[in-house]
Amino acid sequence: MGTLGCCLLLALALLVPPEAASRKCDLQGLWRNELGSNMTILAMNTAGTFSGSYHTAVAATNKQILVSPLQGVQQHPSAKRHPAFGFIVQWQFSDSTTAFVGQCFVDHRGKEKLETMWLLREEVLSHKDAWKATRIGSSIFTRIK
Ligand code: BTN
Repeated sequence: MGTLGCCLLLALALLVPPEAASRKCDLQGLWRNELGSNMTILAMNTAGTFSGSYHTAVAATNKQILVSPLQGVQQHPSAKRHPAFGFIVQWQFSDSTTAFVGQCFVDHRGKEKLETMWLLREEVLSHKDAWKATRIGSSIFTRIK
């Protein structure tokens, strides 16, 4: 590697705080996913439970989208650096509910990401339609505040 390469590496190392990658994840805050949905997570209690609100950018219904409440729980609230968590959104404009599970990661620049998977269950009128009642997906949230 030439002198220029060394200088660039050194500059990068100085720009990234050494503790960035090992920084603890904090779920509290305002998050946005790849669909443009916004989610606010409020302060967690010592048991690891939390509440918040979800403003989805998309919906499976044609009804007007409303901001909807969420209830969640984080595993090992005080100890974990990259905690697993789950939360459920009770949609206020449809008969569906969505359960998210995920984990919070911090990259080498200290940027947090919530990597989640979700199941969206809609209410079907007949048991024979149950086979088509559940959607599955994945979603990554990044902090916007
Ligand atoms: C509904 O369509 O009945 C309620 C809204 C569902 C929105 C889903 S939940 C999973 C996915 N991620 C989002 O941010 N929005 C959609």
